[in-house]
Amino acid sequence: MAHVSSLPGITNIQRPNQVLSNEELLHRACLSIAGGDSSTMRVLPYHLPLVAERGKGSRIWDAEDNEYIDLNMAYGPLIFGHCPTKIVERVFDQISQRGSQLGFPSEINTRVAEKIKHLFPSIQLMRFANSGTEAIASSIRLARAYTGRRKIIIFEGHYHGWSDATFHRYHAPLEELPSADFGPALPGTLGMNGAPHDLVAVRWNNLDALARCLESDPQAFAGCIMEPVMGNAGVIAPQPGFLQQVRELLHHHGSLLIFDEVITGMRIAPGGAQELFQVQPDITVVSKALGGGYPVAGFGASREIMDLIVQGTLFHGGVYSSNAVVMSAAEAVLDEILANSREIYDHLYAITNRLARGLRDILSRSGISHVVQNVGPMFSIFLTRGDVEGLCEYRDVRQHCDFDRYIQLQHQLQQSGVYFHPNQFEPMFPSTAHTTHEIDLVLDRFEEAVRCRLVA
Ligand SMILES: Cc1ncc(COP(=O)(O)O)c(C=O)c1O
Repeated sequence: MAHVSSLPGITNIQRPNQVLSNEELLHRACLSIAGGDSSTMRVLPYHLPLVAERGKGSRIWDAEDNEYIDLNMAYGPLIFGHCPTKIVERVFDQISQRGSQLGFPSEINTRVAEKIKHLFPSIQLMRFANSGTEAIASSIRLARAYTGRRKIIIFEGHYHGWSDATFHRYHAPLEELPSADFGPALPGTLGMNGAPHDLVAVRWNNLDALARCLESDPQAFAGCIMEPVMGNAGVIAPQPGFLQQVRELLHHHGSLLIFDEVITGMRIAPGGAQELFQVQPDITVVSKALGGGYPVAGFGASREIMDLIVQGTLFHGGVYSSNAVVMSAAEAVLDEILANSREIYDHLYAITNRLARGLRDILSRSGISHVVQNVGPMFSIFLTRGDVEGLCEYRDVRQHCDFDRYIQLQHQLQQSGVYFHPNQFEPMFPSTAHTTHEIDLVLDRFEEAVRCRLVA
């Protein structure tokens, strides 16, 4: 890999025993870890080798001490950047003074739940889990148990974790999608033994398709799960009024609305998409930003729905659920948001809008077809084949976007010290640690990359 010069404003720390390059370390990892890492999304075949050594603020450093402005931010959780002092201090205090895992109910769990409820008034009772996947699997069970129905609706391109409950082929090629507006969700991987069962995939932002799907089997649908801002096929906002209309339609059919706010929760507003768009779901799942980099998730609903868990008729557990490490991190995140929400979200929105405006400008001036879409600090660049107005659903992204060209752009930026994920489906997630100055540095690097190498 080409040498990356140090970015202004950051002093490289010398690593005395550096022996292996990024590439060599990945090769070594592959001898012990299947594929070289425990998440396939971090080691795709078109990733340039980057083995992270450390992170601070908006920056990461790799094994060769190359420095990058990170726009991936661990796929969203790092809302206050890498290694934020406010979280680290609280976690350190918890684990050194009181323990990491007590194995009993603890007051800190209640405090965290109370603070989440304050931000998400649709939640009356909640439970904690260790990952978005787990919390979503429980929310699907809840919807089925509460309604006594089998089927669940998801949307094309939406991702809700890798459990058998919801893992579908969310990035299917166009030719594998049904010609109709909805159809049975395809298994996301081998080994699912016929799952996902009773899962129907519908086109996003398409109310008629949803209505037809619900009418195709009245009384069968327990609920509909969605990312209220689609973030797993790039960032695609709901059409104006869509979320409200979906809610009304579902309730008309006796089905529940489940918001997967794993990405949007505490990111696009303190109270997530439900606050931003003023639509109350029946069940909510939160995760990424809640932990600020520590693995925590939660799901919650009305007292009536959650009563299934209270009564013990619907089981939920987990040795590490609401362990004290992640609870102390979550409390630090929530306290910060509750104390300084105006400042935090004003900054996140301002820097992301600046990035969006700057990139549109650069790409337009260079004659490169593109669409830049963001909802606050959830942000995507789509490089398109020809001019496209906007992208409203998964099929649009598949049809219009040039994935190879995006990879080429990403490689150039990575080589010049700016990291974002090479898959165009993955959004960028600016944090409070990104300053205006750093956004301008990113724009400079983009300009340079586009001018020097990206063929218009
Ligand atoms: C919207 C959404 N839901 C659920 C998940 C799964 O969360 P986890 O990876 O913590 O299991 C993700 C992960 O990226 C996600 O983006």
